[in-house]
Amino acid sequence: MNVLVLHGPNLNLLGEREPQLYGRTTLAELDARIAARAAELGMTVRCYQSNHEGTLIDFLQSERKWAQGLVINAGALTHYSRALSDAVAATGLPCIEVHISDVSKREKWRQFSVFEDVRQGVISGKGVDSYLEALELLARR
Ligand code: DQA
Repeated sequence: MNVLVLHGPNLNLLGEREPQLYGRTTLAELDARIAARAAELGMTVRCYQSNHEGTLIDFLQSERKWAQGLVINAGALTHYSRALSDAVAATGLPCIEVHISDVSKREKWRQFSVFEDVRQGVISGKGVDSYLEALELLARR
C-alpha cells in the first residue's frame, strides 16, 4: 500500500516550535519514524511538508494516482482551508487526519476541522505517535 503523508504549515519547525505542545522530535526524525513503521506494515510512504496551501494541493493532485491512502496533518489549515478539504475529497483516497496536540482540549477555533466530512478517521493528542497510529488505522482498513 502506498501512502502519502502530508505536513502543513509550521510543521517544518517541529522540535523547536512550542515543544511543550509539539514535543522535541524534528520533522526529519518524524519522517524517519513514519518510514520505519510503514515498512513494518508493508507500506511505502511519501512524506511532504509545505507552508503553502496551494503547494500542498498541487502535491496531492500530482501524487494521487500513486497512493492508496493519505495521512494528513494540515496544521492550522485544518481549521479553515476548504480548498484543501476539497483537494482531499478529489483524490478519493481514504484519509486519516492527524494532530500531535489534543486539538479537542485547545482553543475553540481549533476544535473545528474542514476534514470532518472527507476523512475516515482522526488521531489527535498522541504526540508524533499520532502519525504512526494513523498508518496502523489505514493498514487495518
Ligand atoms: C496541529 C494543531 C493545529 O491546531 C496547529 O495549527 C498546528 C499543529 C497539531 O499537530 O497538533 O499547526 O495540527
